[in-house]
Amino acid sequence: MIRVAHKSDYTDMDSVFRSSAEALCIRDYDSKTVLDWVGEANPERFVQSANNGCVQYVKVLENRVVCFGELNIEKQLLLSLFVSPDCVGKGIGQKMIEFLFIKANKAGIKILKVDSSLNAANFYLRNGFVEQSKSNFTTRNGVVLESIKMECALST
Ligand SMILES: CC(C)(COP(=O)(O)OP(=O)(O)OC[C@H]1O[C@@H](n2cnc3c(N)ncnc32)[C@H](O)[C@@H]1OP(=O)(O)O)[C@@H](O)C(=O)NCCC(=O)NCCS
Repeated sequence: MIRVAHKSDYTDMDSVFRSSAEALCIRDYDSKTVLDWVGEANPERFVQSANNGCVQYVKVLENRVVCFGELNIEKQLLLSLFVSPDCVGKGIGQKMIEFLFIKANKAGIKILKVDSSLNAANFYLRNGFVEQSKSNFTTRNGVVLESIKMECALST
């Protein structure tokens, strides 16, 4: 089931974020950069993104949050999509991005943007995103990550 995230999910979302970044993003970034980005456990990061206008969704499997995605409708931005490392390769990220496409489409977004981490770029390309430019993404805690700005035209 994918549903809107509640504040009570933030601790689990934080665990998914930290474990996913540590296990999966490490392939394309040096470990110090990833560890600085991930930092200490900080569920409050999701309070900040909600306050900045993000809608947040979680995929729950057997009572456990295994994936989350965040959309900022005003900025027409897919802010984040993370799958727990023990659950990758099972179609969960795919289901979440299709769900986010539907939500973005219903909200009237024509072009959805993402600032993709290097390790996820091919996943987004497979899902219809087109590379716009190389970029530097400044994370919520101020770490600068090489990234790729992409856009996807949503079908009506
Ligand atoms: C990228 C990510 C969300 C993919 O989630 P997932 O649940 O493993 O993906 P799925 O199992 O749904 O894969 C769907 C398809 O995409 C492919 N795929 C998954 N990750 C891919 C990647 N990094 N590059 C290319 N293809 C990828 C799968 O092989 C699968 O293909 P298939 O349908 O032909 O079998 C996940 O690896 C992740 O959380 N990565 C770390 C966090 C991250 O960098 N997020 C992006 C931040 S902008």
